[in-house]
Amino acid sequence: MSLSREQLFKAAEQYGTPLFVYDADRIHNCYQALFDFIKWPKLKIHYAMKANYSYHILGLLKDLGSSLDTVSPGDVLMALKAGFPVDRILFTANNMTETEMIEVQKTGVLMNIGELSRLEKFGKMFPGSRVCVRFNPDVKDGDSAKTMTGGDLTKFGILLKEVDKVKAIAAEYKLKVVGLHEHTGSGLQHTESVFQSMKNLMAVGTRENFPDLEFLDFGGGFKVPYQPNEKRIDYVSMGKEITRLFSEYCRSYGKELGMYFEPGKYMVAESGYLLVTVNTIKDNNGRLIAGCNSGFPQLIRPVLYNAYHHIRNLSNPEGAEKLYDICGNICETGDLFAEQRELPEIHEGDILSIENAGAYCYSMGGVYNLRPMPAEAMVKNGKLELTRRRLTNEELVDMIVGESQCL
Ligand code: LLP
Repeated sequence: MSLSREQLFKAAEQYGTPLFVYDADRIHNCYQALFDFIKWPKLKIHYAMKANYSYHILGLLKDLGSSLDTVSPGDVLMALKAGFPVDRILFTANNMTETEMIEVQKTGVLMNIGELSRLEKFGKMFPGSRVCVRFNPDVKDGDSAKTMTGGDLTKFGILLKEVDKVKAIAAEYKLKVVGLHEHTGSGLQHTESVFQSMKNLMAVGTRENFPDLEFLDFGGGFKVPYQPNEKRIDYVSMGKEITRLFSEYCRSYGKELGMYFEPGKYMVAESGYLLVTVNTIKDNNGRLIAGCNSGFPQLIRPVLYNAYHHIRNLSNPEGAEKLYDICGNICETGDLFAEQRELPEIHEGDILSIENAGAYCYSMGGVYNLRPMPAEAMVKNGKLELTRRRLTNEELVDMIVGESQCL
């Protein structure tokens, strides 16, 4: 299921490092598998493109029939450029501005609103419109406190107990609430949280409260293992329970509604690899420090969330294990991909593969210290191709200078 050492090596040789490589077949399989796990005739997968907005990944998913979860006008524009029809895009903004609201509404993309005041402003400006309403599921789960979105200490969604206020605004502006939404968090640790969030949303989604519903959207958060021995969630059993709960709900609602999920990590995390070259080995009184030609602006998850990313030494897989700090090339002490990690002996020039780098790695990247982002490549049907080139230093600097001279 993973790309082989040879395939990754070839990619590094062909396009240089640092380089992100994506396994298209794996993304394809992940998408298809969801339809095996969750049996529902009106199941729609809205891939959370914030996880990875690679134009080629979007193209692949568009061809498979996927829909999209978008979070900014830029996302929407990108989705449209990638060829997604408007009815396959949902817009879930956070703290959106008036201008953003107008810009997106003009495209015809359905808006998912998670604040009472925004719903009111939307109603005033676009009375009689179709809209989706985001509730806070009041369930706390996720792989980092920074990405748990349920509960009243977070900024997300309208509290469940405020359902009457939602109804009042909808009635005042004749809004047609066609969907309800919740997102509990990223990397949900317990399947029970998925079920509980569903139940909480379904409890407010009665026909009395919202007679025009077409779908319920239960967000993303499907976890994938990051540590080598981490257990994989039993998605078959989880899917069965999801279907059972939703069929029961639809029976009482009196209509077969659409069931939407918005996975990001699940769809792309395991398909991605960041290949880096070790260019410096230092022995600091016995502490071995391996310095690479990439850094935290290019893969920030370890620094930001203390996230574990498995690392393989592609050049010397059978070498004797030693403990290393795997550092980047940024002028900060905290610039580490891994601390005190056991790896087969590393020599200068070796290529390391930082794994599970498909989700929230490139997309959260930046050019701190003025190093361009890595190139991106994809392996599809066994064929390797470059899907995004690396900017040259000159192009990056010219872009900044150009932007600064336009005043
Ligand atoms: N739907 C909504 C409304 C979301 O806010 C998110 C993620 C998703 C779906 C997709 O969640 P996923 O299936 O990918 O867990 N940067 C963090 C994750 C942030 C998630 C933000 N929202 C990380 O690298 O762990």
